[in-house]
Parts: sequence; structure tokens; C-alpha cells
Amino acid sequence: MKKSKISASMMCADLVHLKQTITIFESEKIDYLHIDVMDGEFVPNFGLGTDYIRGLRDLTDIPLDIHLMITSPEYKYKWLGIKSSDMVSIHYESTSQIQRALDRLSEYGCKKFLAINPATPIYVLEEVLDYIDGINLLMVNPGFAGQKIVPSTIKKAERLVKFLRDCGKEDIEIEVDGNITFENAKILRAVGASVFVAGTSSIFKGKLEEYDNNILKLRENISLR
Ligand code: DX5
Ligand code: ZN
Repeated sequence: MKKSKISASMMCADLVHLKQTITIFESEKIDYLHIDVMDGEFVPNFGLGTDYIRGLRDLTDIPLDIHLMITSPEYKYKWLGIKSSDMVSIHYESTSQIQRALDRLSEYGCKKFLAINPATPIYVLEEVLDYIDGINLLMVNPGFAGQKIVPSTIKKAERLVKFLRDCGKEDIEIEVDGNITFENAKILRAVGASVFVAGTSSIFKGKLEEYDNNILKLRENISLR
């Protein structure tokens, strides 16, 4: 079973207290900062952009987990300042040339994750398993924080684990993104997920002073038994 990692969803972070938030995340050893990049076309929202990413790099060395909810990501990597210590998720649904898009991402040395929306079937992954390090399983329809999990995605996660095992690809990591409450995290850890996008459903609950306890509570729910 892979070590659990917490990826803090920065679209949920309070900009006024960003520095203090990052300080808490560094002391609590948060594994990644989840950056939702949105173009208003692939998803009906605009998210964090290139300037935000540049600013974060000046604030902290915590690696980024860049979630590209944009069309044709393969033409836009160069704007993002991707580092080899980062994870980058591109959406299967966002380009007609997904294998080429994954190949181009290889130039950055980062971990390559393929994201699929709740209604996208698992079998679409069949021909690209050799080109990815992980799968970002969207548990909500992407674009907004504070949504409720799409119920069918829990069983989908179970089928994904079986699918990867049947393909001899258990080394591919599973990230879960969207409404990862303390309870959903526990359930999904038991299923086999190992990267947990933590937003308003968990670590960003309440005030800044509560974040460290939220992180401890989430970590407890996803720790190895
Ligand atoms: C979903 C976003 C996530 C997440 C935010 O589009 O990619 O960052 O949902 O956290 P929650 O769902 O807990 O508010
Ligand atoms: Zn995301």
C-alpha cells in the first residue's frame, strides 16, 4: 500500500492569510499544494493562474500538484513553470491527442497524472497506462470547491483499483479530488487511493487556527493501518 499524501487545494486558501497558511502547511509537512488551473472553457470557472504559481514558488518549496482543467494543455505547459518535483494532471477529456500530450509533459520530468471526470469510463485509460504515473479520479464535476461527491465515484474507485491490478499496473497512484471529507478520505484510503486533495471538506474547515488540527484529523484517517 502506497504512503498517503495530502495535496492541499489552494483554491480554498484565504488569500489574506496565504503566508500564514503556507507556514502551517510547511510545519505539518503537507506533501503537495494542489493548484486548480481553469480556463472557463473546459470547466465553467476561472481558477489559479501562472502569476499565482510564480508567487507560490517565492513563498515555499512545497511541490505543486498542478491540476490542468484547460483545453489543449499540451500547448500551454511552457507557461506554468513546471518543476521535476511537481505532479501535473491533464484531463483525458481536454485534448484529442492525449498520448502526445503526455509525451510532451515528459520533457519536464514531473509526475504525469491523467485526470478523468465522474462520467468518463475507466476503460479510456487502457492505452495510456504505460505513459502515466498516476490517475486523478475526479469525485465531483470539476471546477468548483464545496461540491458534493458524485455517489457513483466511490464504486468507480474500487473498479479502478481492480482494473490497475488486472493490468499489472498497481504501481500507478490514485489521486482523489473533490469533496474529500474526513469520512470520504477514510473510505477511499481503504479502497486504495493514496493522494488526497484536501479542500473545504477537510483541512480548510473553520479558521486558520483550526487548520493544523484538521490536518492531523485527515492524516489519521488516511494513515496506514
Ligand atoms: C474540484 C477542485 C478541488 C476540490 C476543492 O474541482 O479541483 O480542489 O474540490 O475541495 P472541496 O471539494 O473539499 O471544496
Ligand atoms: Zn483539482
